[in-house]
Amino acid sequence: MAETVKADSWNASLYDSKHAFVSQYGEDLVKLLAPQQGESILDLGCGTGDLANNLHQIGVHIIGIDKSENMVQQAQNKYPDIIFNVEDAVSLPFTNEFDAVFSNATLHWVKEPKPALQGIYHALKQGGRFVAEFGGKGNVQTITDEIINQLRIYGIDFRSGQFPWYYPSIGEYAALMEQVGFRVTLAQHYDRPTPLEGENGLRNWIEMFAFSMFEGLSAETKALIMNRVEKALKEVLYQNGQWHADYKRIRVVGVKE
Ligand code: BEZ
Repeated sequence: MAETVKADSWNASLYDSKHAFVSQYGEDLVKLLAPQQGESILDLGCGTGDLANNLHQIGVHIIGIDKSENMVQQAQNKYPDIIFNVEDAVSLPFTNEFDAVFSNATLHWVKEPKPALQGIYHALKQGGRFVAEFGGKGNVQTITDEIINQLRIYGIDFRSGQFPWYYPSIGEYAALMEQVGFRVTLAQHYDRPTPLEGENGLRNWIEMFAFSMFEGLSAETKALIMNRVEKALKEVLYQNGQWHADYKRIRVVGVKE
């Protein structure tokens, strides 16, 4: 996680208290993974460890890794029996070790997808599977377009290189998977409007995930822009007393042959 952020700006407590939906949606991906007791599985981008723990509970030998020390620390405190390590997805240190690599809501932070896919392929045993879901092309674009729009109205230049995420199309990502050696057995790109908890749902989401778009701004300017974004998006993303983020997901399965 947090591929583009220099210091560790991840707030693991806010993540657990207001964004538990990330792991809850991931439970569906676990079904696609179809983990078996005794398998060795790497959870790439484990966050605060909830899905790793689900796998541990059914007898999987799980290792959870995340780029954020805060997340790993929180995961380790919650689940002391599981191995969690700080690792960067673009330089994975594993060779032929895992029956599966599982990754939920992480790979959109990895702006160098090819070295990450090479490391994942290398980490798998022959016949092993890679099962992942993350943000695809157009993900949360209503929100990010409005943030960029408001920054520009304030005369703040937002360059495309500052965009924190990698949101590929399915064609682009499946092609990269094939280039590193995977047989792609599933590739989907689907809409998943995501309810955000409470009146401050949009604001909390931005604080949690889009903080780097406001880097270098004073707290006052940030608050002003945040208010304007919220106001502008209320008509579009707030229905029946609830904010919804316009998530678009990519889901892939690849086999190491
Ligand atoms: C996502 O899961 O698609 C996502 C989460 C946080 C920030 C950006 C995207």
